[in-house]
Amino acid sequence: MYQPSHLASLVPTMQSFIESATQNLESSSSSSKGSDIVFSELSLRMATDVIGQAAFGVNFGLSKPQFVDVDVDVDHDHNQKNMLYNDEVSDFIKQHIYSTTQLKMDLSGSLSIILGLLVPILQEPVRQILKRIPGTMDWKVDRTNRKLSTRLDEIVLNRIILQEKIKLGAGDHDHDSKDLLSLILKTRPDSGSRNVVFTQDYISATVYEHLLAGSATTAFTLSSVVYLVSRHPNVENKLLAEIDGFCPHGDDQIPTSHDLQHKFPYLDQVIKEAMRFYFVSPLIARETAKQVEIGGYLLPKGTWVWLAPGVVAKDATHFPEPDKFNPERFDPDCEEERHRHPYALIPFGIGPRACIGQKFSLQEIKLSLIHLYRKFVFRHSPNMECPLELEFGIVVNFKHGVKLRVINRI
Ligand code: HEM
Repeated sequence: MYQPSHLASLVPTMQSFIESATQNLESSSSSSKGSDIVFSELSLRMATDVIGQAAFGVNFGLSKPQFVDVDVDVDHDHNQKNMLYNDEVSDFIKQHIYSTTQLKMDLSGSLSIILGLLVPILQEPVRQILKRIPGTMDWKVDRTNRKLSTRLDEIVLNRIILQEKIKLGAGDHDHDSKDLLSLILKTRPDSGSRNVVFTQDYISATVYEHLLAGSATTAFTLSSVVYLVSRHPNVENKLLAEIDGFCPHGDDQIPTSHDLQHKFPYLDQVIKEAMRFYFVSPLIARETAKQVEIGGYLLPKGTWVWLAPGVVAKDATHFPEPDKFNPERFDPDCEEERHRHPYALIPFGIGPRACIGQKFSLQEIKLSLIHLYRKFVFRHSPNMECPLELEFGIVVNFKHGVKLRVINRI
């Protein structure tokens, strides 16, 4: 599914969600008041829709124009208001977004997790008790997990039934579906044989892992780029020139997967620098497979090692003036880039367990930025805090969202 040929075929799907999600920005940008948008929410809805389609083959419908909030009254809690959620998907997606951005990520809120860090053996028994006590974080996590998994199980079960019907020749043929769920189900042995690996639980967990791993991370990166570019006019001008130069006659040709990889070198630099500046996955975990010595410490087999690649990304040894947003540092011809250690920036991890969705997300991020910058530029909203406050968890999140003012370029 993440092979180049499949990724190339996903361009039209991605593009249609991007166009849909950004459709209402036109009216926002032409408003005389110069309306704010909560860009981080727009990007999360869009990224969730894209991965929802790619992983489940389900259109969650979050990018439909009616979901895009213009004229945001920033005094209100933007997570709750200004969004006309469709009833059917709202519950699932609200739970998903809550779980993605706040709940599971709020490690500090869960007593069992804190206790687990100190006395690991107590974590599970304490969790079992706390999840029965309303109001505790463990209770909220458990309740949210159960709601999400019920919805997911329904989706997976329905698809398994459909797949069985197709195999029996009784259903519509579905040979072309290339979403992750369909692909897993197609490789699954018939219902008669024992599915030791592809149990329903395993399939649900795998597909949900992709939804979870692929939505908040991509949305955060997209928001970081737009936020950072909006306060760096030189970067913005150079980026606009590159994007406009791709289609000098203004026919808004949609770039192919190949174009995206090879024809936007400055866009690549901007994305890399934004990923360095705001590092979305602050921790990567590994368990030692054998005894190993690292930096003078002898680690026995089975030791958990936590890497903090975001700290390395702000190390002046590799990135002089690390707090400066400077995409030029990734120019292949500059000294800094040529002499930097190849592992100094690893936002997608490294090795055999590195992010499987790297190319997928970069394709989506580039397509989105090209589409946006063809039509708009963005400015900081006076209603946004400065500097931006971040919330640290398994992934980093913008505490109060990224609020931007949209300006029509045309
Ligand atoms: C900007 C976007 C993204 C970032 C920064 C990111 C970052 C990461 C990181 C740091 C890891 C851990 C790597 C390691 O342990 O070495 C990871 C794993 C993973 N990511 Fe991503 N990711 C992104 C988008 C996506 C997307 C779009 C998908 C799905 C389509 C995805 C699916 C996964 C999966 C399944 C894993 C687990 C891989 C494994 O354990 O073998 N990610 N990601």
